[in-house]
Amino acid sequence: MASLTIRKLDDAVKAYLRLRSAGNGRSVEEEVRVILGELIQGRPDFPGSPSASMASPAEASARAPAIADAANQASVTLIIGGGIAAFKSLELIRRLKERRIEVRCVLTKAAQQFVTPLSASALSHERVYTDLFDPGSEFDAGHIRLARECDLIVVAPATADLMAKMAHGHADDLASAILLAADKPILLAPAMNPLMWNNAATRRNVLQLRRDGVTMIGPNAGEMAETNEAGVGRMSEAVEIAAAAVDILRPPRPRPLLGKRVLITAGPTHEPIDPVRYIANRSSGKQGFAIAAAAQAAGADVTLVSGPVDLRDPAGVTVIRVESARDMLHRVEAALPADIAIFAAAVADWRVANEGEQKLKKTSAGMPPLQLVENPDILATISKMKDKRPPLVIGFAAETEHLIENAKAKIARKGCDWIVANDVSPATGVMGGDRNTVHLLQRAGKEIGAGNIAVDNIEVDSWPVMTKEQVATELVARIAKSLEKNS
Ligand code: CTP
Repeated sequence: MASLTIRKLDDAVKAYLRLRSAGNGRSVEEEVRVILGELIQGRPDFPGSPSASMASPAEASARAPAIADAANQASVTLIIGGGIAAFKSLELIRRLKERRIEVRCVLTKAAQQFVTPLSASALSHERVYTDLFDPGSEFDAGHIRLARECDLIVVAPATADLMAKMAHGHADDLASAILLAADKPILLAPAMNPLMWNNAATRRNVLQLRRDGVTMIGPNAGEMAETNEAGVGRMSEAVEIAAAAVDILRPPRPRPLLGKRVLITAGPTHEPIDPVRYIANRSSGKQGFAIAAAAQAAGADVTLVSGPVDLRDPAGVTVIRVESARDMLHRVEAALPADIAIFAAAVADWRVANEGEQKLKKTSAGMPPLQLVENPDILATISKMKDKRPPLVIGFAAETEHLIENAKAKIARKGCDWIVANDVSPATGVMGGDRNTVHLLQRAGKEIGAGNIAVDNIEVDSWPVMTKEQVATELVARIAKSLEKNS
């Protein structure tokens, strides 16, 4: 096999690759692999390509992603804002079109510094709109048509400025005028520097826009295009935005948790020993993330407080990343009130009392003594709250022996309403794996909002082995049923 030396590529190609890889948080080599992969997958002679040995249009459409049918015939007005992430919006046009969604692009003035109307037009096969006062498009109120003659408006990248304009109802350019005149759902894919994203003004605007019914995807955490900058602010990937768009365009599905606030913890916690070492456990966070995604799909407003994990933020979920048990407790308390709280995190029970300010060194005096102190119990703290206790509090029980017996004792000790008990012995492969075998323990007769009852009145429902996604869907279905019974 031949190898490719990036160094020997044309300067302009190298510059483009550097920019694109930085934007995607990948190494240049990895970026080249992605580009080649995408290129080759689209070739008709590549086995596995959707267009490979295409026999007939009917066959081709049968092979297209299932989601395509849901969004068939749909049309999107795509507003491209001015930011380095704008180049990803060109890929977004392709992703939407391969899902058979018509795309009409609007480029803000700033966007044109990053991508050209010509490239957007070539990819969308449509005229591109740039100017509020363009007589060609405005003679018949073009901005109103762009706002109304579509099924969804997507703003990607949604810059801090564009979001501020939206939140305050400005309409001094084509993009903001369309957004103000819209009677269609709006999906924003924010992208900005992490400091701008965390700025109080942006936080206010995000809150306002969410209240106004705007849906947001991302931003993701990662490296920024600016050198040595990282944090939350990277625009979601084109495939994620396309999936979120299809989700909105799909015929409405039941959303039994609509209007409910769900708070979830996930992942392990890291308890520092010194600046470079920590105590941790093997939790992957997959189960908690799957529950967050399932609750979001059921219409809930979901906040996920997660310890350090290697998982992407579920779309449409507010994700708060923390390190230690104490951080997790603070962020959970700050996220209240909630209607339902689900504690799936594998919180470290202990932390080091004498955490070293400097790296602990080996000395002739022998091993450094590590004194452990107990961490706050987040589940118990929230379950026993007087005023802000969520009406339904669900814990997890990770056990390696006497599963049901220990889980029953845990429900009583911690004061929660339900417990999802699972055997985490190494042989089960649950910790870090994709499947789970769980038992749902419920205080009998404990529907949402009812008072506490005795421990011997606990019902145990054992579920068959399932994927963590299936466990999540089933748990959300049980919550929805419980809510319904209670209403
Ligand atoms: N939990 C928590 N805070 C802690 C410890 C646990 O919120 N400091 C929560 C977990 O998220 C889970 C439940 O309590 O929902 C049970 O966690 P588990 O690790 O199974 O039990 P422990 O509390 O550690 O008890 P034990 O050591 O007896 O197993």
